[in-house]
Amino acid sequence: MSNRRSFIKGLSVTFAGLPLSSQLTRLQSTDWSDWSDISTLYPQDTAGRLNFNCGSAGVQPTVVLESMGAHQRALSAFAPYEIYEQHKDTIDKSKLRLAELINVNKEQVALVRNTTAAINDVLYGIQWRDGDEVVISTADYPSVWNTLKTLQQRYGIRINTVRLDLNQDSEEAIVNGYRTKISDKTRLIIATHVTHREGQLMPVALISALGKAQGIDVLIDGAHAVGHVEVDVQQIGCQYYATSLHKWLSAPLGCGLLYVQKDKLASLYPPTSYAASQQDLMDKFTWIGTFAFEKWMTLDTVLDFQDSIGLQNKSTRLKAMSTRFREGLAGIPGLIIAGNQKDYGGITALRVEGINNSKLHNQLMEDYGFHVKKVGIQKVLYNRASFNLHLTDSQVDDLIAAISDMV
Ligand SMILES: Cc1ncc(COP(=O)(O)O)c(C=O)c1O
Repeated sequence: MSNRRSFIKGLSVTFAGLPLSSQLTRLQSTDWSDWSDISTLYPQDTAGRLNFNCGSAGVQPTVVLESMGAHQRALSAFAPYEIYEQHKDTIDKSKLRLAELINVNKEQVALVRNTTAAINDVLYGIQWRDGDEVVISTADYPSVWNTLKTLQQRYGIRINTVRLDLNQDSEEAIVNGYRTKISDKTRLIIATHVTHREGQLMPVALISALGKAQGIDVLIDGAHAVGHVEVDVQQIGCQYYATSLHKWLSAPLGCGLLYVQKDKLASLYPPTSYAASQQDLMDKFTWIGTFAFEKWMTLDTVLDFQDSIGLQNKSTRLKAMSTRFREGLAGIPGLIIAGNQKDYGGITALRVEGINNSKLHNQLMEDYGFHVKKVGIQKVLYNRASFNLHLTDSQVDDLIAAISDMV
């Protein structure tokens, strides 16, 4: 173990100088009990601030940034489309690895820009009929709601809202909430895998089973799930699964993935520019015009990095940081942690009763350089911290100490 440890200690110094393959080989032989060493594999803010909001946009390790920079330079040094074309096999392999990561067939996934694009491809792609109903909950993401409201205006669909209180609702109450909103006009159920405010893991397999039992399709918003917790789309049993790869998987910003069940594909008409011959293929979601090709060219490094650590190790670590944070704050009078305190990962949202939580947010930044995100749950303000491998236990402790000092 000491050899492994001494390797990882030297890694931050020598890592950047090594060829990529050697970096990843050496990473694979690491002892994952010492996570502070792993944090050195991420860039540090030159102003010394700490990002406790890696849920919004994600953080990328230096090896990913270097790989992307090298691809970007190669694209600029010659003809971008031709260089991109030369990487098609590697990108295709990355797609296969991503499909395996969520346990679906490669032919049923498409690389897209992000969760928003993936969800819009489905929602704008469905041929809606006047009076069709969609069931969605108050825990779902605002931009999904915005799209539904547009569809409501354009096609006369109805939105049936499940009102959830994740501080109180049991799993059974959540699923029942969906059940009561279903009618014989329901065309689609939408649910979020890991909620964006509480960071709560939702019973998406049970919600999908509910849809299946009634012949209703289910779209899962997995923006916060892939690279964070284990995702098994077959086991969930939904018809559509949308995710961002730049959040918890630490891919370059602007990478996402869409899964569509085979028998649902042909009838979708996404707002992309595809050839009629692609109607039955996931390729129809992929053509979005010219974009930053280097992002998809970097996905192999992203996946190598995660595989070197192991998703299970990572997932356990992310939850452990969140647990450390929750336990460290536990003595604060008036503390409320959002969600059910059981089904969570690397996200924790908190408020303290009797204090100005907006001021707490601002002071964390101004006095300590700690960035957390303000989130409103049922119109009440919480501060959300999200933890990825760029942070150490002692930095989590520093955030606990800062909050404790201020309340
Ligand atoms: C639950 C959820 N869905 C969708 C999105 C949108 O993700 P993106 O901006 O990557 O499209 C987010 C972003 O935070 C989210 O939290």
